[in-house]
Amino acid sequence: MRLVILGPPGAGKGTQAASIVDTFDVVHISTGDIFRENIKNDTELGKKAKSYMDRGELVPDEVVNEIVVDRLKKDDVQKGFLLDGFPRTVNQAVALDAALEAMGQKLDRVINIVVDKNLLVERTVGRRVCPKCGRTYHVVNQPPKVEGKCDADGETLIQRDDDTEETVKTRIGVYEKQTSPLIDYYKAQGLLLDVDGSGAIEEVFESIRSGLEQEV
Ligand code: AP5
Ligand code: ZN
Repeated sequence: MRLVILGPPGAGKGTQAASIVDTFDVVHISTGDIFRENIKNDTELGKKAKSYMDRGELVPDEVVNEIVVDRLKKDDVQKGFLLDGFPRTVNQAVALDAALEAMGQKLDRVINIVVDKNLLVERTVGRRVCPKCGRTYHVVNQPPKVEGKCDADGETLIQRDDDTEETVKTRIGVYEKQTSPLIDYYKAQGLLLDVDGSGAIEEVFESIRSGLEQEV
């Protein structure tokens, strides 16, 4: 299956992506994770992306498009993929369509996680991540077994630099202006699967699973 997961910052894209890739055996491609990995390794790409990310703004389309198009050409992607955090602008969506068409492929579904705006700040500001394995937690909604430590490897959890209340508000504004037009873009293609993302993590996944198992 070739999938995209859409939704505002903190909607639960990364959280749901972990279950989707396990259940549907597809490769998880998160542009946010690719940038954070590059920042950690202090690469040229990381240096370029960091200033945009810290401000809550989008990395320029031409930078992101090239990375994703290259990634889609790798062998492991043949079994199917879940794009998380890409596309984020209509320009990126058009570039994705063109790249897939050139490979004789097309998207199967676009999962759109719908969450009330007032939940987003609480979810992002309370998020904690493991710098070693990348697992995501939440201080209230999804706490680790031992406070502040990753369940998998005991590593001390950290807060993302862009998860401050001020930056999250900027990111939500950027989403509304630049990314939300993609909802109509994919609706027009008959690909959109709207999912209520306000319930518990397992409930949201159940809606995604049953939606994906239905024929379009
Ligand atoms: P990116 O990493 O993609 O961040 P985002 O889209 O802002 O999304 P988040 O990772 O904040 O949220 P999420 O929806 O994955 O939520 P999560 O599952 O963690 O992008 C970061 C930056 O990179 C961008 O600002 C931009 O600068 C740059 N970038 C990336 N891609 C780009 C692109 N294509 N073009 C240009 N620039 C790009 O959940 C959040 C929290 O809520 C967690 O703590 C979780 O435990 C909790 N939670 C999740 N689900 C539930 C639930 N159902 N109930 C209760 N709590 C929940
Ligand atoms: Zn860990």
